[in-house]
Amino acid sequence: MRIYFDYNATTPLAPEVLEVLVEVTTQQFGNASSVHHFGQRAKAVLDDARSAVAALLHGDPSEIVFTSGGTEADNFAIRGAAEALEPTGRRHLVASAIEHEAVLNTLKALARRGWQTTLVPVGESGIVDPYRIKDAVTAGTALVSVMHANNEIGTIQPIAEIAAMAHAQGALMHTDAVQSAGKIPVHVRTLDVDLLSLSAHKFNGPKGAGVLWIKRGTRLQPVMTGGKHERSRRAGTENVPAIAGLGVAARLAMHKIDAEAARVGALRDRLEAGILAAVPGTIVNGAAGQRVPNTSNISFDRVEAESLLIALDLEGIAVSTGSACSSGTLEPSHVLRAMGFSAHRAQNSLRFSLGLFSTEAEVDRLVAVLPGLVEKLRSLTRKAG
Ligand SMILES: Cc1ncc(COP(=O)(O)O)c(C=O)c1O
Repeated sequence: MRIYFDYNATTPLAPEVLEVLVEVTTQQFGNASSVHHFGQRAKAVLDDARSAVAALLHGDPSEIVFTSGGTEADNFAIRGAAEALEPTGRRHLVASAIEHEAVLNTLKALARRGWQTTLVPVGESGIVDPYRIKDAVTAGTALVSVMHANNEIGTIQPIAEIAAMAHAQGALMHTDAVQSAGKIPVHVRTLDVDLLSLSAHKFNGPKGAGVLWIKRGTRLQPVMTGGKHERSRRAGTENVPAIAGLGVAARLAMHKIDAEAARVGALRDRLEAGILAAVPGTIVNGAAGQRVPNTSNISFDRVEAESLLIALDLEGIAVSTGSACSSGTLEPSHVLRAMGFSAHRAQNSLRFSLGLFSTEAEVDRLVAVLPGLVEKLRSLTRKAG
């Protein structure tokens, strides 16, 4: 039996999503910009998905722009806002130190072009303090970007409070909701953001489809230039099957968001309680604050997380050492480092992320095999030492 506990990296398709992918790929293959019947049918598919995503976010369909995923949505938000606001003299961007690389590396790229950037640190809680944002934002700030839920530890950020600090100085507020959308309620008006990114493959939709939600009236320069797709905001022939899949995934998530959050949350709590009880020298990272219900990040004292990951994989259990992008390298997680943990503790941490097909039996299997693997690795370290 193979067990998948890496839902924050990507998720398996919901069966209903697969069905619509096949149907749209084979039946509605038209170009949504074409005037004829085939084009209009493809356009109807896009409109339907647009309504579904707008409902998930409690936004308006006219505010939805389809992208190729979360990375593109983040790039569009940051680069689009930067370019739109540059002529007003705003040349400064603010983000938290625990953002995904899609945000951090976009800021780095803009810094190389003369933009001033400020990364706001977090404490041991893994939560961004809105007052630290207030201190960072100036009248020259174009945009503040803080993620809704962190991909490595699952902490939920106080976005509405942070948005208030951004808006007080006339800056735009963006949130990367890639790890929250579809898992917990996401309400764009309550969050009070101007821009919000999401990605279909994080909630049982297909890879290669995402959204930037743009609050009506927000000034943003297109990043992808070309034709007049997406009301001239994002050029390029739309990936109609993947967007249809995104729409179905959004509806599925919305209909069972509370029940699924409770079910997965109970599994996560069982996993944490089981591991903490069975394995000495373990600690849950970021547990003090609010978290998305599917994510658990645990440090194992005196165990190299990469070795434990491989040992678990040999037992048929897939987990992660943090963000997918840094897996395979021995770089300690920038998120755990930003929380003030030693490189040692950061390198001893595994992320367990659960989802739609996770079961109690899978959690129990993990809790059964983990203590032996940890003990074995610790005794090898003792011998080597
Ligand atoms: C918080 C966060 N933002 C952005 C992304 C990138 O999304 P995508 O894989 O759709 O490009 C990810 C994916 O790992 C993520 O976890």
